[in-house]
Amino acid sequence: MLDIQKIRADFPILSQTVNGKPLVYFDNGATSQKPQIVIDAEVKYYQEINANIHRGVHTLSQLATDAYEISRGKVKEHINAKFAHEVLFTSGTTHGINLVTNGFASILKPGDEVIVSSLEHHSNIVPWQMLCEKTGALLKVIPMNENGELIIEAFDALLSEKTKVVTVNHISNALGVINPIKYIIDKAHAVGAAVLIDGAQAVPHLKPNVQELDCDFYAFSGHKMCGPTGTGILYGKEEWLNKLPPYQGGGEMIKEVTFEKTTYADLPHKFEAGTPNIAGGIVLGTAIDYLNSVGFENIHEYETELLDYATKRLSEIEGLRIYGTGKNKASVISFNIDGIHPYDVGSIIDKLGIAVRTGHHCAQPIMNFFCIPGTIRASFSFYNTKEEIDQMVDAVKKAQIMLS
Ligand code: ALA
Repeated sequence: MLDIQKIRADFPILSQTVNGKPLVYFDNGATSQKPQIVIDAEVKYYQEINANIHRGVHTLSQLATDAYEISRGKVKEHINAKFAHEVLFTSGTTHGINLVTNGFASILKPGDEVIVSSLEHHSNIVPWQMLCEKTGALLKVIPMNENGELIIEAFDALLSEKTKVVTVNHISNALGVINPIKYIIDKAHAVGAAVLIDGAQAVPHLKPNVQELDCDFYAFSGHKMCGPTGTGILYGKEEWLNKLPPYQGGGEMIKEVTFEKTTYADLPHKFEAGTPNIAGGIVLGTAIDYLNSVGFENIHEYETELLDYATKRLSEIEGLRIYGTGKNKASVISFNIDGIHPYDVGSIIDKLGIAVRTGHHCAQPIMNFFCIPGTIRASFSFYNTKEEIDQMVDAVKKAQIMLS
């Protein structure tokens, strides 16, 4: 059992008022709030050991390098990668995905096929489209049903020896649906395709086990899991990272540079050109420690309670439709009220202190599927409460009366 009040006290922002009302923060899908321990770790880095990494023999540089590499090791343990050099620091999920699509530009041939799902965030659609434009490969899409679930038989039918890459999110950012990624990975591997999982929305809710999943790439962001913005991780299997060319050229990613020829550094440095977000990378490790101290089993149990409660309470509102009604869901609810634009509801409930995301959630194909301009999305974290859900339900009811 989690002591929610004690947990809430770890997050200074949660005791704020917004528009004169206590903040109810339900936009965790966009970014999570940060516990004091994470904020303190960022300050401590700059106060005590700020120096560039992998470059100096001086003490501070070594301290910063050690802290950065210790953090990489924590991520390796957290996601159960085989080697620490399979863990690349990035600026976020988008960076990780683009690193992979850039690499595949030298692998794909005209007529090869890339499969994405209809539940993807734009960041896991557009880079693949760009790759297909560049290489002449074809983009195929796994369709979804009215519950917001992928139609798995249709995925099976899309697979062939032409399939070179399959990519799907672990959890849909717009609907909260959890995809059957283990099945997708195994089936894709059976035809020899590589698999990238977009884990951006999964890592705040669960601990991915990349070896058990056997995915080839798993990309995620630090800022959705209590870490700083501008941080992220791309996990890649060693054999794939060795096969892909570097994404960016620059300092730190080389073995030797001459004007005739440059040779590249070993993993992970081959993919980490330039001075990275050193503080962010170190503090991401602190955020992971924090989440593990709360415990992912506890998080899962409590967030399921919040999801069930919010689903029940919102369903009491007449004319309210929830999108994403499959059984397997994370604590995200997307909904609309008949005849009312989601922005209008979002703006009114903001005045009442409630922060939700409204719009297409960078997933326009999903909105097109449902023929809607967007949804109101409440995404819950383990620091939210049922009382906050009650406040949101009251606020939505008020907005409905005002806007009808
Ligand atoms: N991808 C983030 C979201 O879904 C920003 O809100």
